[in-house]
Amino acid sequence: MRIITILMTQIFSTIMPTLLVTGGAGFIGANFILQAIKSQWANVVNLDKLTYASNLQTLAEIASNPNYHFIQGDIGNVELVSYLLEQYQPDAIINFAAESHVDRSILSPHDFIQTNVVGTFQLLEASRLYWQKLSSTKQQQFRFLHVSTDEVYGSLQPQDPAFREDTPYAPNSPYAASKAASDHFVRAYYHTYGLPTLTTNCSNNYGPRQFPEKLIPLTILNALDSKPLPIYGDGQNVRDWLYVIDHCEAIYLVLQQGKVGETYNIGGLNEQANLTVVERICAILDELAPKSNSHYSSLITFVKDRPGHDRRYAIDCSKISRDLGWQPQENFDSGLLKTVQWYLNNSDWVNQVRSGDYQNWLKQNYENRKL
Ligand code: NAD
Ligand code: DAU
Repeated sequence: MRIITILMTQIFSTIMPTLLVTGGAGFIGANFILQAIKSQWANVVNLDKLTYASNLQTLAEIASNPNYHFIQGDIGNVELVSYLLEQYQPDAIINFAAESHVDRSILSPHDFIQTNVVGTFQLLEASRLYWQKLSSTKQQQFRFLHVSTDEVYGSLQPQDPAFREDTPYAPNSPYAASKAASDHFVRAYYHTYGLPTLTTNCSNNYGPRQFPEKLIPLTILNALDSKPLPIYGDGQNVRDWLYVIDHCEAIYLVLQQGKVGETYNIGGLNEQANLTVVERICAILDELAPKSNSHYSSLITFVKDRPGHDRRYAIDCSKISRDLGWQPQENFDSGLLKTVQWYLNNSDWVNQVRSGDYQNWLKQNYENRKL
């Protein structure tokens, strides 16, 4: 049994606290909400703008659960957020809402500034006004947990030590810069106003229900369609892969036991070069969905590199391990197998996300990338 299920809720006064989760119709937020509702961690109010990256079908199985409420809206809408806070009186806010894809931030950064910077600021401001009106006991119990990324720390050389919580920020893409700015605002709201904040900086998530613009689901779906598997540059850029369920459990743990005002790095202890990741997916597909006359790896295609492509990310997660007792449970072989199986078994979900604007994105990002 995963350690999280035996941990006692410490900060909440009620048995079932209420969480305002933002961006809960996206990849990580939806996985978190499914787990929160099924494991009865909390009542959840999900505020999501429903951008291209969202998918309410992911949450269909809990849509009519009385402990779950969905509201379509923008984290930057102070009036709406203030109304929701008064209406539902949440014990905590978890901010997943963001524009999250680096390639899109390069082609069109505006939305990243609007949601990740301005939106997070507006959400903090509405939270502060709500929090200041709570009783002093409730004020102490309240938490604002901001979900951020390892990309704020910049890029590592092969021999560099992994990112620690005190590694200086050095964001390189518009996405990373926007997340860095949001982290700074969260920090400022703790130091200036005393808002009880927590920040988590995690590595690349993978697992079921991820929108297929990111490397792993894009590779799985392109391979099944016999389309090229695009590898940027030389394929030796390294990412640390964290199974999304491990990440959700870490967030829940930080929410319960994290020290107010602090930052926690969350990583999978699993550094892989991109080419290796794609080759492993191909090998799994050769087993689970073999092609009659070729191997999936024959689809691998090197394409023009991402501008400013960070070479390596690596997370030192010894703080959350030492202070809160968290360790990732999934290894990459089992996690990748589960992920590929999920995409093979959920063709309705896959067909739905691939309709509409997704084809336009593939054209925009890959058509002019040929070497
Ligand atoms: P995602 O792109 O899959 O989902 C983001 C969700 O936020 C979508 O449902 C979208 O509709 C919603 N949203 C966007 N703008 C909004 C707004 N203005 N108001 C309300 N909702 C809005 O993202 P994800 O991969 O689930 O990432 C969640 C969070 O985790 C993000 O903050 C991201 O920066 C961070 N993160 C992600 C990864 C990763 O590997 N996916 C790694 C590190 C950190
Ligand atoms: O590190 C955490 C970050 O991980 C999160 O903050 C971001 O929200 C999330 O999108 C992710 O960013 P990356 O840019 O690392 O993820 P992506 O899946 O886009 O790319 C992973 C690696 O694979 C990266 O080195 C670029 C490369 N890549 C990606 C795509 C989409 C390719 O080689 N080909 C591709 O087609």
